[in-house]
Amino acid sequence: MKSALAIFGWIFFGLVMGVGLMRFMSTEADLTELAAETARPERTADGRLALYYTADDRAHISGEMLGFLQGLQTISMAVAEEDRETIRDAAGALRRGGGQGQAVQQKSPEGFRMIGRSLRQDFGTISDMAMTADMDDLQLAVSDAMGKCAACHGSYKAVEVEDPAAD
Ligand code: HEC
Repeated sequence: MKSALAIFGWIFFGLVMGVGLMRFMSTEADLTELAAETARPERTADGRLALYYTADDRAHISGEMLGFLQGLQTISMAVAEEDRETIRDAAGALRRGGGQGQAVQQKSPEGFRMIGRSLRQDFGTISDMAMTADMDDLQLAVSDAMGKCAACHGSYKAVEVEDPAAD
């Protein structure tokens, strides 16, 4: 009689454990799925640090970036033509920029902001030296500034996420 009860006991125990385990496993699976949907890994697949921006943030950054690209083209042509006023004005405009977006600034890591600030300082230096410096030195300064473009793009990658406030 005792052993029969023990067997029932084990069956009962087995059932509870089985259900419990199944429940645990399904929670695990759900959690893993949830994590995959919401996780924001530190790095993108190519190894760069991921920056999570909304569509608005990205539009702001894109605007600034296209300004950088255009400005650099203007400056490099002006260096070739030794057109000092154009170098001074184009670099001066890039020093100021279009005003950093608050949202973008807040979401960006310190390293990212530092490279950005340093690039603006480089443009300021180029603007200040434009009227007097040797063209070779100006060319070098432009190349230095472009190193910052490469540094930031090589280290960080923008990943678009939905703005939780927009829901
Ligand atoms: C501090 C970081 C940083 C620096 C410095 C930087 N960029 Fe960018 N750039 C970005 C990020 C982030 C993006 C991606 C924006 C997106 O797609 O969301 C980007 C995108 C761009 C794009 C694509 C824009 C588009 O939408 O078509 C261009 C072109 C570009 N950058 C040029 C430059 C040039 C030229 C320089 C240097 C004068 C520069 N960037 C410096 C961070 C930077």
